[in-house]
Amino acid sequence: MAKGLEGVVVSETSLGYIDGQQGRLLYRGFDIHDLAREASFLEALYMLWHDRLPGRSELEEFEGELARRRTLSHGVLGVVRSLPEDANPMTVLQASVAALGAYDEEAGDNSPEAELRKAQRLVARIPTVIAAFDRIRGGEEPVDPDPELGHAANFLYMLRGEKPEPVEAKALDTSLLLYLEHGFNASTFTCRVIASTLADLHSAIVGGIGALKGELHGGANEKAMRMLLEIGSEDKAGAWVDQALEEHRKIMGFGHRVYRAEDPRATHLREMSERLSEELGDPKWHRIARRVEETMLDRKGIHCNVDFYCGIVYYTLGIPLDLDTPLFAAGRAGGWSAHVMEQHADNRIIRPRAEYVGSRDRKFVALDER
Ligand SMILES: CC(C)(COP(=O)(O)OP(=O)(O)OC[C@H]1O[C@@H](n2cnc3c(N)ncnc32)[C@H](O)[C@@H]1OP(=O)(O)O)[C@@H](O)C(=O)NCCC(=O)NCCS
Repeated sequence: MAKGLEGVVVSETSLGYIDGQQGRLLYRGFDIHDLAREASFLEALYMLWHDRLPGRSELEEFEGELARRRTLSHGVLGVVRSLPEDANPMTVLQASVAALGAYDEEAGDNSPEAELRKAQRLVARIPTVIAAFDRIRGGEEPVDPDPELGHAANFLYMLRGEKPEPVEAKALDTSLLLYLEHGFNASTFTCRVIASTLADLHSAIVGGIGALKGELHGGANEKAMRMLLEIGSEDKAGAWVDQALEEHRKIMGFGHRVYRAEDPRATHLREMSERLSEELGDPKWHRIARRVEETMLDRKGIHCNVDFYCGIVYYTLGIPLDLDTPLFAAGRAGGWSAHVMEQHADNRIIRPRAEYVGSRDRKFVALDER
């Protein structure tokens, strides 16, 4: 038995390819390095959904369609408002995506055309939910989306009430692109299991958000930044890591089931963290992170993953720590949707088995005789 399904191939996919030994990641054959340097999140998303790069006018049309679909209905906004201010934002996101499904006229339609339209509405609205919740819990009114702003710039605008600098919007946009797709990770697998019962797209995404929340998966970006804040200064980093390893604690933002070489997404986030923290924030966080990274490589030979430097990027953008994982979901929702569509296009219910190790032949004693 492969504990944690390590190495088990459960399906075919043409969406994402990972070579863990070489540290390579492809979205439908396109190298993540090319995409991260050259493309926008929505450009990569279009490519993932349509299996080809969009032309300029197709991309503009796609961006416009998403921009027009960002606004939440009164019903969905009412759900966001009704939740406790101290609720976990991932739980809020789950409840809101369920509500988006409840109000979606095509909710139960699993045809490819309807799924594409639903996925578009979802990717357009998830950032609105995240920003609205943050405003409401802070005692402020949500900021209406601005259709003139790009996908990432608009999120920062809805969060802050002020338009961001282009460099900030670009950093967030690239992080969403890097989070977009990653093969059969736990949350994507969850989505595919749900989709395989012929449940609808929204149900699958709600499940994916639940799987992503845990700190062994998407929850690691928030935890990694909290760790850096706890370490506090560069000179304490080495000793902090040594102590944690001695206590057999996991260092958040390190290790991966598939990668043995560097996670290629981390390469970009490291660069972004260095540049952004020098330009906009406090370079100290990047320096502490470098020391943690060096220590982990030296002591354990373990590389950092996508979540490590992303924590610093989001911190530098002034994003509240507990919105780090919801933003991961905002990017990955595009990938989850692609997987739901791929599953529905050639479906068989996913139903593995477990090796039974419990007792057998126990004698049942009637209630009155116990
Ligand atoms: C990602 C992760 C869940 C993969 O888990 P996995 O494939 O089951 O790997 P394991 O947890 O079995 O780790 C294998 C070995 O590396 C060690 N290891 C892996 N990640 C580690 C980490 N972040 N810190 C310290 N040690 C780690 C384990 O202790 C184990 O050592 P051992 O063989 O001496 O017991 C795991 O690396 C982890 O918990 N990382 C931290 C959380 C995180 O950053 N998640 C985001 C992933 S993108």
